[in-house]
Amino acid sequence: MAHASIGVGMIGCGTVGGGVAQLLREQADVYTRRLGAPLELRKVLVRDAMKARAAGLVPAALLTDEPRNFFGTHDMPIVVEVAGGRGPVSRHVAQCLEMGKHVVTANKLLLAEEGPEMFALARRHGASIAFDASCGGAVPIVTALQFGLMSNRIDALFGILNGTCNYILTQMTQHGKPYAAALAEAQAQGFAEADPALDVSGKDAAQKLAVLASLAFGVRARGEQVWCEGIDTLDLADIRFGAELGYEIKLLAIAQRATDGRVSLRVHPSFVHADLPLAQVHGAFNAISVYGHAAGHVMLYGRGAGRLPTASAVVSDLINVASGWYPVAFSRLRLWCDYHQPVQLIDPGDLVSRFYVRVNAKDVPGVMAKITTIFGDAGISLSAVLQHEAAVGQFVPVVITTHQAREGAIRGALKKVEQLDVIQGTPVCIRVVDMPQG
Ligand code: NAP
Ligand code: HSE
Repeated sequence: MAHASIGVGMIGCGTVGGGVAQLLREQADVYTRRLGAPLELRKVLVRDAMKARAAGLVPAALLTDEPRNFFGTHDMPIVVEVAGGRGPVSRHVAQCLEMGKHVVTANKLLLAEEGPEMFALARRHGASIAFDASCGGAVPIVTALQFGLMSNRIDALFGILNGTCNYILTQMTQHGKPYAAALAEAQAQGFAEADPALDVSGKDAAQKLAVLASLAFGVRARGEQVWCEGIDTLDLADIRFGAELGYEIKLLAIAQRATDGRVSLRVHPSFVHADLPLAQVHGAFNAISVYGHAAGHVMLYGRGAGRLPTASAVVSDLINVASGWYPVAFSRLRLWCDYHQPVQLIDPGDLVSRFYVRVNAKDVPGVMAKITTIFGDAGISLSAVLQHEAAVGQFVPVVITTHQAREGAIRGALKKVEQLDVIQGTPVCIRVVDMPQG
């Protein structure tokens, strides 16, 4: 017996939306067999229907730029939101939820800043929100944290969560491409956000980390609460010195829970030892290492951005929602941040890490002693010093790595180092990140 089709609406039809439409069209038979009923795209809301018609990603008759037309479409119980951003898109999502429509979204910004309100709104109206595509592209990290690892107390999460940044860093380190050219390639391949500053500043990864940490630790974390440094200020010289010392540079997103329940949330360029699995993650791939008290170390790896990888996650969510099991889980389990208390953050100055420091020092007798005395007085123990030969009296880069030290102590010491008359410019400081033993 043929089952009635399940109507799907979509807001946005760009890189990801085009991929969703393509999968629904090309894999229709497979999805119908798996679900027991066909999924049918009934209406697509865009900002500019003329432009979307010209792009030809969905049949012209489905497109509208009139929200009233979209929301007036009957038999459309599920809406996929792949427009991105907040403002009008938040209002569209809220309207869907108020109408009792289930929402499948790839929008980490919306979730990171308005997640608790949106989840609560969904619950009040018997709707649900599925969001695997919001973090990690094709990598099912959201599903893993929600369901596969539900039995664990999660202690830490280390991730490469931004495909654009990882692509740029790979192009710079392995192919010697300039930063701007690598970014332009990432944009051309559909990895970057509409505003790529969100990627390179680390904010996109910070939003994803807030979403994942909320799930992992059972807290309410917002993107703006994540300590965030991007790759836009990195100097190629440091990437090269790091390589000499055996490290790869990665933009890491790190969430760790202390025994008192406080949490550290940070995104920053990090040196990772070249032998570690995260150092082997290249191009637009993402990887996330999760540490559960029972599972130990679990690592997920895959394409973190791009049309079909992201559409893969969206359509999987869509099928889960359409089957009815996800909305039931959403209504019964208490996994989502509308149930949780605001996160209690650890002061970034109290974080303990190893550090890479580069200063431009005058090559004259006694310089090293001055620098190492400042570190010694701050209780910071050095693990390596690297300096290439230079003409006497010239300024030369001096690279120092430390053993474990408090971030606050390092910052204080570097302020003093910067004031030395034998130092030129501002010292560079990059964290060297070691993974827990899982
Ligand atoms: P995109 O290529 O820029 O497409 C966005 C689409 O949404 C465009 O069709 C745009 O129309 C439309 N749109 C924007 N604002 C709208 C509004 N207020 N009402 C209706 N339509 C609107 O973006 P994308 O790369 O597909 O990303 C979409 C979402 O997926 C974002 O949340 C992004 O963070 C997320 N995501 C993207 C990737 C990726 O690899 N690209 C991966 C994971 C998650 P116009 O063209 O007329 O502006
Ligand atoms: N701009 C994002 C990235 C898309 O590069 O990772 C995937 O969320």
